[in-house]
Amino acid sequence: MPSVTEILESMDYGPAPEATGEVTKWLSTRGSFGHFIGGRFTAPGQTFDVRNPATGDLLAKVTQGTAADVAAAVKAARSALSRWSRLSGHERARHLYALARHIQKRERFLAVLETLDNGKPIRETRDIDVPLAARHFYHHAGWAEVLADEFPGRGPVGVCGQIIPWNFPLLMLAWKIAPALAAGNTVVLKPAEYTPLTALAFAEICAEVGLPKGVVNIVTGDGATGAALVAAEVDKIAFTGSTEVGRAIRRATAGTGRKLTLELGGKSPFVVFADADIDAAVEGVVDAIWFNQGQVCCAGSRILVQEGIARDFTERLAVRMGKLRVGDPLDKSTDMGAIVDPVQLARIRDLVAQGEAEGAVLHQAPCRLPDRGSFYAPGFLTNVAPANILSEVEIFGPVATLTTFRTPDEAVELANNTRYGLAASIWSENINLALDVASKVKAGVVWINATNVFDAGAGFGGYRESGFGREGGREGMGEYLTEVPVKAKAEPAPVAPDAAPVPEAPAGADPIDRTAKLYIGGAQKRPDGGHSYAVRGKGGVIGLAGLGNRKDIRNAVEAAHKASGWGKATGHNRAQVLYYLAENLSARDAEFARRLASARVPKPQEEVATAIRRAFWYAAQADKFDGAVHATKSAHVTLAMPEPFGVMGLACPTDAPLLGFLSLVLPAIAMGNRVVAIPSQNMPLAATDLYQVFDTSDLPGGVVNIVTGPRDELAKTLAGHDDVAAMWYCGSAAGAAMVEAECAGNLKATWIVRNRDWLSAEGQGRGFLDHATQIKNIWVPYGE
Ligand code: NAI
Repeated sequence: MPSVTEILESMDYGPAPEATGEVTKWLSTRGSFGHFIGGRFTAPGQTFDVRNPATGDLLAKVTQGTAADVAAAVKAARSALSRWSRLSGHERARHLYALARHIQKRERFLAVLETLDNGKPIRETRDIDVPLAARHFYHHAGWAEVLADEFPGRGPVGVCGQIIPWNFPLLMLAWKIAPALAAGNTVVLKPAEYTPLTALAFAEICAEVGLPKGVVNIVTGDGATGAALVAAEVDKIAFTGSTEVGRAIRRATAGTGRKLTLELGGKSPFVVFADADIDAAVEGVVDAIWFNQGQVCCAGSRILVQEGIARDFTERLAVRMGKLRVGDPLDKSTDMGAIVDPVQLARIRDLVAQGEAEGAVLHQAPCRLPDRGSFYAPGFLTNVAPANILSEVEIFGPVATLTTFRTPDEAVELANNTRYGLAASIWSENINLALDVASKVKAGVVWINATNVFDAGAGFGGYRESGFGREGGREGMGEYLTEVPVKAKAEPAPVAPDAAPVPEAPAGADPIDRTAKLYIGGAQKRPDGGHSYAVRGKGGVIGLAGLGNRKDIRNAVEAAHKASGWGKATGHNRAQVLYYLAENLSARDAEFARRLASARVPKPQEEVATAIRRAFWYAAQADKFDGAVHATKSAHVTLAMPEPFGVMGLACPTDAPLLGFLSLVLPAIAMGNRVVAIPSQNMPLAATDLYQVFDTSDLPGGVVNIVTGPRDELAKTLAGHDDVAAMWYCGSAAGAAMVEAECAGNLKATWIVRNRDWLSAEGQGRGFLDHATQIKNIWVPYGE
């Protein structure tokens, strides 16, 4: 007779499949689906098959949306907009509460449908996807309720085009639709072609709860339908998906004035220090890379383990991996289900094979996979050289790379050695170490001793090529609201810098001495080309300015990079420098006013006085504009920390040559950024006169770099520079389109700053500081 221990060891789970009857009935009565436009389903058009990835069986036929379908949906959303946006926040909140409640009521139905459509285990859809979707609607019902108090003066953006991926179909829908509706927008959403079914079920819920017709429209289809939505008359595009498509959307929307948020790929580090709770960290890997078959944008796909524990950790990981149950996603004891589609399965296999050919060693669980369906056994890869394709490319499957490091510095270096910056997970029992590393990793979300934890109350989104904008929480709401309105002012045309004969100098002046040089790394530098251009004002030429070129911009970016200490200085330190700058400017106010008068600036004294006050104001904000602590999940707090981007490019207004320049430079540096600024092309001398003010204000060299010359040409180089993390541009419409398209390269955050009355209150404010920072959300263990 076997002993109890033997019985326990050999005992396996019996199958515990979730019932599918209700969903199967729903699918068979619907047959083929049309789109949901203006509150009703259209007749199906040309359809494509939607299959269950765990079996390959046909689930439904869904319509491939045409440009005409998209246009009809946008029209419906547009006509619903004014009524919906004029409802009180409270009335909109009631609709959102109703949606949340109905999702909850149909929780089991939605979980089964999602599992059938996507292949993810029912345990996840039931415990994570669907409850979080409901939570999102509840949370945002609350935002609708308090909108007028919390976001005074701001309104809905309009009609929002939303494109979502297949890895969290219903949850991504909730992330997109809930904040949009709370803010008073109407939407056209396109689900991913692999997984459109829960979106269609959600459309039914919208009808059921009496959501006004046209507020939510769902158009199904593939990338072509998505592209049609990007090209349609919408006011905002919100996209989650691959970096490649995100980049194409950035280019397609450049210059259209549409709001854009991109939540893209990742290659997130999962860092395990020697003093970590190893078993907890191993369990963390399960949630990091084997959750949702690894098809998670913020998956911990690069495991970095400190050398001393690497062997122990790897062994324990292999044992744990061997215990994962892979198979029928509808079985309640399944840990890992199917890969979403044979195309994705082939992509994972190809990538891993390529990595193996380059020397990586794959360790895979010895599990028996089902005979049919798209399954891939969980695994991890060792011996992955930094140059290996798998170190760089997102696998988007249940396989992580595992590499070792020696010191915390090396861990940070490896963690940041990626073009992405979505998330990071840090494991250590030493709070000093964990928080120190959290401050150094370049990622929008950092989990300490946790991973893949989400909540509607915290923002989510990336740094670098993981995209820009945040979803969730206050930041996410901001993305669906207009900026504080400003009265736009026509931008005077910049005068071509080569219009005047060069060199040309005022009578009697030494042309060389009177040429304002560039300001790079805290020193005055001759422009690379050795040329200057004439600056015209009262009575003709009033001086010469350096004619900067690409090389000067590159030098300036390099100098800005070197000044990284500025980002680490305390807000108090930065405030002191800015106060000093304000005082030094004040001591020379008459001189600056004369300079402005010579350039025929209409209100020179007022401009200087306002610039001084603005410097004091941003000095005051340097240690006050800070983050928030969100109460999210139990046993956690989430610190929302505004961080500087790093190096920013600023193309400053032509108007108000001193004040326009400082209105952009001051908020950027107050927040810890270093800047490369292009001053007014027509009158750069107000900015170049600041060199001495900077020098006497203890502003470290390289924090502000100034390159004078042809604004748009220089801005193009800045926008295309991979080491510039964010770009502000104030100029022409054509210039804005060029800058946004160039910024697609490394997906830098872009702000097209409207020209305005810089003397008015519209020239300064928290909005500038918002644009000068990106929020890092750090999840810290707290309480039980
Ligand atoms: P994808 O980026 O092509 O698809 C995401 C969504 O964008 C889908 O709704 C798709 O129909 C739509 N789309 C595709 N082309 C479009 C276009 N030109 N204009 C507008 N919309 C368009 O991602 P795909 O091909 O399904 O997956 C490929 C890889 O992308 C994955 O292996 C993974 O690496 C990454 N990915 C990342 C996701 C994330 O959450 N960050 C989600 C899905 C994929």
